[in-house]
Amino acid sequence: MSEALLRIEELSVAFGRRGGRGGQQVLDQVSLEARSGEILGVIGETGSGKTTLARAVVGLSPVTGGRISVDGVELTGLRGRALREYRRSGAAQYLFQDPLRALDPDLTVRDLVAEPLAVTGAGSREQRSERAAAALRQVGLDPVLADRLPGQLSGGQRQRVLLARAVVTRPRLLLADEPVSALDASNRNHVLRLFDRLRKELDVAVVIISHDLSSLAGIADRIAVLYRGRLVEQGPTAEVLSRPLHPYTALLTASAPSVRREHDLHPAQLRATAPWEGAGCVFAPRCAFAEDACRVRPEAQARPGGREVACHHADDWRARIAAPVLAH
Ligand SMILES: Nc1ncnc2c1ncn2[C@@H]1O[C@H](COP(=O)(O)OP(=O)(O)OP(=O)(O)O)[C@@H](O)[C@H]1O
Ligand code: SF4
Ligand SMILES: [Mg+2]
Repeated sequence: MSEALLRIEELSVAFGRRGGRGGQQVLDQVSLEARSGEILGVIGETGSGKTTLARAVVGLSPVTGGRISVDGVELTGLRGRALREYRRSGAAQYLFQDPLRALDPDLTVRDLVAEPLAVTGAGSREQRSERAAAALRQVGLDPVLADRLPGQLSGGQRQRVLLARAVVTRPRLLLADEPVSALDASNRNHVLRLFDRLRKELDVAVVIISHDLSSLAGIADRIAVLYRGRLVEQGPTAEVLSRPLHPYTALLTASAPSVRREHDLHPAQLRATAPWEGAGCVFAPRCAFAEDACRVRPEAQARPGGREVACHHADDWRARIAAPVLAH
């Protein structure tokens, strides 16, 4: 198996922390990897820390612990000018969650796509414009749209402009934040297929962030599941979806009939029935299987087939489901 292009080890991020105290812990010792040519899907509900994770990889989140490296460069060791140069190099490109806010409303599509090259001063003006035109072709954007402003484009077209701006710098890593959440089903499929094509053509590692499991199910090679800043499970998509090891992943898959495959659990079987007080497992207040042992925080355990899970009862919670499978 190839070396990981993106390697995140025990990453912690806290906002508003002064002198190491207080503040809001948003990511707590998260570890994951993505390889060239691979799509990693990161799934989690709103506020779980998905955007914070992606922004950390481009040096935009307040990292308080752990390490991030991209293509062998350890980002967490970079400061000042070295960090600015890393950002400008475009080796890792972050596609913002909201394209309309990310794009200067007064620049045409052509200028928007050439802009990242102008920032780095790459090539002559003519060369930059040729590369921008090539990037627009790569994302399948009709050349007649090159003179339009972002406000004159559809959501799907704006998403493609963001993608063209990212690929124009020839990145090694693309981090797309909810790239299809605002699109209708047909546009969603087009944009997802585009990511699939580009990761092969460009041999980039792609991280797609989504709160919607069905968007990731058909495209991600592997899935990482975040819950309140903790990575609770990760592994190959088909295995994770067909036999989730973590009760939260099971709840997600059971709640999304389109991705529920071999297992046949109902969300009602996975919901907590007793109140939970105190620390320990971050999922305990919602977990149907929480018990005293869960007051100790579960650490990630490796499992065969490249899987990983952080749950004390990963191997036996299924056996504790008392109720018969409900009709649905
Ligand atoms: N700049 C910031 N300052 C303070 N808190 C922040 C900041 N950015 C994010 N947070 C907090 O961090 C937590 C995680 O936010 P984040 O945007 O990473 O979540 P998310 O998983 O991307 O959610 P969504 O699905 O809604 O986009 C939230 O509680 C949020 O309020
Ligand atoms: S550690 Fe305990 S509370 Fe947490 S998910 Fe596993 S069974 Fe549920
Ligand atoms: Mg977000």
